[in-house]
Amino acid sequence: MPNNPDSVLFPPRASTFAEDVDSLYYFIHYLSVFFWVLIVIGIVYFSWRYRRGHKEGVGPSHSLPLELSWSLIPLILLVAIFFWGFKSFMHISRAPGDATDINVSASMWMWNFEYPNGMRATNELHVVVDKPVRLVMTSTDVIHSFSVPTFRNKMDVVPGRYTTFWFQPTVVGEQQVFCTEFCGDGHSEMLAKIVVHTQEDYDKWLEENATEDTTTPLPELGEKLFTAKACFTCHSTDGSPKIGPSFKGVFGHEVKLADGSTVMADENYIRESILQPNAKIVAGFVPSMPPYQGQLTERELNGLIEYIKSLK
Ligand code: CUA
Repeated sequence: MPNNPDSVLFPPRASTFAEDVDSLYYFIHYLSVFFWVLIVIGIVYFSWRYRRGHKEGVGPSHSLPLELSWSLIPLILLVAIFFWGFKSFMHISRAPGDATDINVSASMWMWNFEYPNGMRATNELHVVVDKPVRLVMTSTDVIHSFSVPTFRNKMDVVPGRYTTFWFQPTVVGEQQVFCTEFCGDGHSEMLAKIVVHTQEDYDKWLEENATEDTTTPLPELGEKLFTAKACFTCHSTDGSPKIGPSFKGVFGHEVKLADGSTVMADENYIRESILQPNAKIVAGFVPSMPPYQGQLTERELNGLIEYIKSLK
């Protein structure tokens, strides 16, 4: 379906149900425009026809054909809209049996994806074009909402339970994911992208990413992770405070904590702050970072520490 002309009012269509959703929308839209015009014409005509002082015989007070038509026509239209909407809703709600399950864990303010083979990624999901994918989603903190406008689908992500979101991408390329439930300071930056590959490119990508990176020098690995794990959402590298303290010039200096004490920012402090961020809260900030315990390998952890060290 990639050859279909895209909708004028909406973002491009990139999933199998985008076209159906748009068609229903336009049907309701143009139906409303049609009746709006009809009603306006009626109002103008009757205001003129029965204007004050204009003598016109008294019309009939009851007309069966008229009453039946203004009841039956809307009834038929509404029932049609209901069944069309219900059919589309069921299609969007139920993933086909051959869909690949990917786990999604949302937390303030990032999206973590876990593939069936155990591979993890933050804020970036890789999938294959024309293959159905089912996301099994939950949140570690507050309610978020996973929305992909080009797929015409959206679903709340709720702590303590699972919700699902499925799609079959029709276009190769990148699609934007938004969080559409206000979830705190970083809500507007809680973004992710879905990269849709051809099967061939996907296999290549998988091969390159499935094995642990053991060759990149540590500070460079840390810099990569700073982006890949979305640390930048809350931490700057130029000294400006964001949701969390800046990384610039932290290492090797005393840090003032919220409880009034101070601590030396050495390797152990940085390590603890990544794995258990709530152990020591920096003065002027509130605890809001999710713990990374179990999410990073030792080498990745060392990489991040070396990268932070390099930000003098
Ligand atoms: Cu998560 Cu808004």
